[in-house]
Amino acid sequence: MTQQPQTYRRSQIILHWIVFAAIWVQWLFNEPMKRTIEAMQTGATPAGNDMTMAWVHVAFGSTIFFAVIARLYLRFRFGAPGHAPGTSPMQATIATVVHWALYCALIGMVITGGMTWNGVADLGYMHWLLNIVLFALITAHAAAAIFNQFVRKDGTLAQMIPVLRK
Ligand code: HEM
Ligand code: HEM
Repeated sequence: MTQQPQTYRRSQIILHWIVFAAIWVQWLFNEPMKRTIEAMQTGATPAGNDMTMAWVHVAFGSTIFFAVIARLYLRFRFGAPGHAPGTSPMQATIATVVHWALYCALIGMVITGGMTWNGVADLGYMHWLLNIVLFALITAHAAAAIFNQFVRKDGTLAQMIPVLRK
């Protein structure tokens, strides 16, 4: 890793928001996937439309996976800017733990979803449970970013939305 950067690279920012958008697709359109996997597990024939949407779920899930791998590479290769000035050591630790927990939850979602989809093991329940953890982490993470930007006015959100930079 080189010297700690002042800002996230453009590629890191783009990948961050691609993952955000793809997660929303997964959250909004998972019912057909659930019907498809139930049909596959009970020997029934999944409805054509459901199967198409199930593949959309797989495609967006795979996109998230590759984006996460790329982000981890960029993070290890180029680093990430430090927390905003004025962040207490306790807040900095929580933020760092949440960031790594987000990465772990995303990879866990891909593994549990992929194993269920490929019939390796039925980890649908774990996939559902992990999704709740992911949702809680994202909510806390987004709330902290918005709070820091608009209440503490420390420019945290501007790290990921460059137009907010002064
Ligand atoms: C959809 C789910 C999201 C995931 C999985 C996610 C994940 C992450 C991760 C892992 C980082 C650490 C930086 C890195 O390693 O590259 C990060 C940074 C950041 N995210 Fe998110 N994020 C999400 C949504 C959001 C949302 C909705 C907001 C704003 C409302 C946001 C604002 C930020 C900001 C400002 C940073 C930089 C914070 C800092 O460096 O201290 N993120 N995000
Ligand atoms: C971060 C990425 C992903 C997110 C956020 C996500 C989200 C979801 C959600 C919210 C559900 C519904 C859970 C429920 O109510 O029971 C679901 C179901 C499912 N997903 Fe994903 N998913 C992701 C990645 C994947 C991938 C990569 C695959 C397969 C390659 C996959 C396969 C499945 C399967 C098979 C189900 C049905 C499980 C069941 O009903 O037993 N998912 N997903």
